[in-house]
Amino acid sequence: MTSTGSPAPYDEIADWYETEFLARRTRIGLGAADGDPLEIDRALAELLGTPPSDGAACLEIGCGTGVHAERVRALGWTPIGVDLSAGMLRHSRGRLPAARADAARLPFADGSLPAVLAAMVHTDMPDYPAVVREAARVLRPGGLFVHIGVHPCFCGGFADRGDAEAVVIRPGYRDGHWTTASWSADGVRARVGATHLPLPALLAAPLAAGLALTAATEGGTPTPSMLAFAARRQSREAQ
Ligand SMILES: C[S@@+](CC[C@H](N)C(=O)[O-])C[C@H]1O[C@@H](n2cnc3c(N)ncnc32)[C@H](O)[C@@H]1O
Repeated sequence: MTSTGSPAPYDEIADWYETEFLARRTRIGLGAADGDPLEIDRALAELLGTPPSDGAACLEIGCGTGVHAERVRALGWTPIGVDLSAGMLRHSRGRLPAARADAARLPFADGSLPAVLAAMVHTDMPDYPAVVREAARVLRPGGLFVHIGVHPCFCGGFADRGDAEAVVIRPGYRDGHWTTASWSADGVRARVGATHLPLPALLAAPLAAGLALTAATEGGTPTPSMLAFAARRQSREAQ
């Protein structure tokens, strides 16, 4: 149940997500790299990098089943998480300490964290700009925000990825919208729906939150299916 008392959309699909969807996302090719077809792990290593001090905390908002925790820990960070779905968090036990909380109202003090990670969540958060503002609030000056998400230009209800060799883009990209329409009846979008933010709206979110973009990368083939960026809260000297 959410803080408002209603069930979280992912509660119903948590078991499927853990046992079937994640196995597919990590093993079956939407792209090139074996075991990392969307190149999420590579983006995480490149953009999150090593912590400013050994074991510094990295908060993952929408951590789900905690699938990224091991990779975050291997980089030297201490992963912690929040998620709205008790069903997803049930699978995260033993992977990272995590609490049920809304990413738009984080239970952390202003300026208290060195890093916040949002991995494969922005399409599940209808007001993602507000979530990024909240992430910026809890970041220390100089703290790092890492976004990894489905590519807004090549994934969505308007994008047909049914042919492994080609992506067909239909009208709809320029409208921010929520939809369950998908090229696949067997994915997350068809089950719980997804919000679409065109690229300029996505990039405006960290800028409006006072974060400075520092790096970006894409992953997946034949056309990128993942877009990621890093942004820093300005240090006190730079403000
Ligand atoms: C596609 S899953 C991604 C989970 C994980 N990060 C991964 O990469 O597998 C999206 C997650 O975001 C969570 N979520 C959606 N809205 C949220 C919010 N407002 N606050 C916290 N978690 C949220 C969902 O419950 C779900 O676990």
